[in-house]
Amino acid sequence: MSGIEEKLREIQEQAAEEIRRADGMDRLNEIRVSVLGKKGSLTSVLKSMKDVAAEDRPKVGKWVNDARAGIEQLMEETRMRIEEESMNLRLRSETVDVTLPARTPRRGHRHPNTIALEEVERIFIGMGYEVLEGPEIEYDEYNFTKLNIPANHPAKDEQDTFYITDEILLRTQTSPVQARIMEQGKLPIRMIAPGRVFRSDEVDATHSPSFHQIEGLVIDKGITLADLKGTLDVFARELFGPDTKTKFRPHHFPFTEPSAEMDVSCFKCGGKGCRFCKGEGWIEILGCGMVHPHVLEMCGLDPNEYGGFAFGVGLERIALLKYEIDDMRLLYDNDIRFLNQF
Ligand code: DAH
Repeated sequence: MSGIEEKLREIQEQAAEEIRRADGMDRLNEIRVSVLGKKGSLTSVLKSMKDVAAEDRPKVGKWVNDARAGIEQLMEETRMRIEEESMNLRLRSETVDVTLPARTPRRGHRHPNTIALEEVERIFIGMGYEVLEGPEIEYDEYNFTKLNIPANHPAKDEQDTFYITDEILLRTQTSPVQARIMEQGKLPIRMIAPGRVFRSDEVDATHSPSFHQIEGLVIDKGITLADLKGTLDVFARELFGPDTKTKFRPHHFPFTEPSAEMDVSCFKCGGKGCRFCKGEGWIEILGCGMVHPHVLEMCGLDPNEYGGFAFGVGLERIALLKYEIDDMRLLYDNDIRFLNQF
């Protein structure tokens, strides 16, 4: 009997020693199995109870239970210690320094086209214009016919057109918006219509199959060429600076009569001639003219009562000039290092 007591003390001491040295939950579980498991050292003592005299069994039973309780208690304490230690370790290794300055997120940037367009819109809204839009997929009728460009007109070949069907195309200009707005018949009209246009051009430094124009249209009673010149002169000075001069050269567009192209004095050299204006002193900016009476008629207006002027500006052209970009392709590369410069 005293042999059992001795054995129990030995098991308990050895278990306590191993538990104390346990360095993790895995090790602790191994010890649990080796002591309290089915084939464990303490369990084997319990199994040998059958050799103990009947009157001694309660006493021996209590020893075994006490030993078991002691070992379990120690294991529980150790489990808590191990868990706390591993939590502390995690807390230390996963610390976040909330006082560190944040990494600034990479922001996008407004595109030079957008900046230029907003500038043009600001100028015309300031003069009482509305900003309107028309469809990019357009009828041949609006893109050409109603603008005085009938079938077989050479202007149709000049603007290499993407046709979808015989009657439907990708608009080659924003001018069809003129016809659409005039047809609505709400007068007077003072509008600009920015948007994307398409031409079957090869990509190079000055061409792209898709680019942008801003159309302008004014229709009212008593509008004259002086209104056109005055308006576009203000536009040029607002856009390129107060010293900018304008020059109107006779030109031809089917939907205006008379028609002109407007040049502005070079804002780099002030008109003396430099590399920027190729020695000319002038830079071509836009096409314009008085709306052709036949166009007014085709759009349901009486040319004897109403008249007006129109103009068309290339948005990329303005962006390239204003920001001194020498290759149009840069505008479409979507490179943030380029865009960030404007
Ligand atoms: N639509 C013409 C083009 O793409 C530009 C233009 C010229 C528009 C004269 C106009 C205008 O409204 O009056 O070449």
